[in-house]
Amino acid sequence: MSNWKEIWGGRAVAVQATSLADLIRADGFDTGAGKVDTQAWRNYAAELARRLGIATGDSVFEVGCGSGALLKVFHEASHPVGGIDYSQALIEHAQRAMPGMSFRTAEANQLAGAAQDFVIANSVFSYFPDLDYARDVLERMLTMARKGVALLDLPDIQCRAAAEDFRRSALAPGEYETRYRGLDHCYFAREWFAGLTATRGWRIEVSVQWLADYGNAPHRFNVILTRIVA
Ligand SMILES: C[S@@+](CC[C@H](N)C(=O)[O-])C[C@H]1O[C@@H](n2cnc3c(N)ncnc32)[C@H](O)[C@@H]1O
Repeated sequence: MSNWKEIWGGRAVAVQATSLADLIRADGFDTGAGKVDTQAWRNYAAELARRLGIATGDSVFEVGCGSGALLKVFHEASHPVGGIDYSQALIEHAQRAMPGMSFRTAEANQLAGAAQDFVIANSVFSYFPDLDYARDVLERMLTMARKGVALLDLPDIQCRAAAEDFRRSALAPGEYETRYRGLDHCYFAREWFAGLTATRGWRIEVSVQWLADYGNAPHRFNVILTRIVA
């Protein structure tokens, strides 16, 4: 496992407050290329709900939920939510933000449990060590989801050089090399997802990253999988 785990696990939650803005900050969408504002975040969640077909009362479970910034929008709309993350500090924060919902500290590749209507992962697959790990997690998500799966903010292998140049340019000279030495992102080809899910009863939609005013968006994509009901 790369030391992304140490970084996320050691992420101190500076503010105990649990507004949507606080959770967005705790989940790392507060600096440089990754900065996002709350209205853009709400629009992001609304578009996700539309594309997945999330209906009143449907449950939404997230793998790598962090402090639950994306789940918070669904919780506010009275959906049952839950999630796992390998950062205990972030899981405790999610639990504070959404009392009574079910959060657990666990590695993504240990995902198991009761069926959920929708299983999502936003900005998480980028931290996985390799494609074998990603395939294992995706299989577990497909097993758990009754209606749909969303994989969001996936680094696009076709844009790797541009993405790294862009991230470097958002920092002071030399800072990228110091800060990210040994911390690679996992990149994906769009066809990889279709290859894994084709002919297995899933409809796949691969789209641009629609999160507005997000610096990484041009180098990322989203995958929406919905069960084909016979
Ligand atoms: C950028 S944050 C996104 C958090 C949340 N999904 C959101 O959209 O607000 C990435 C999260 O992925 C989690 N993560 C990365 N790799 C993981 C793994 N292998 N197992 C569990 N959690 C992981 C990190 O701990 C962190 O909370």
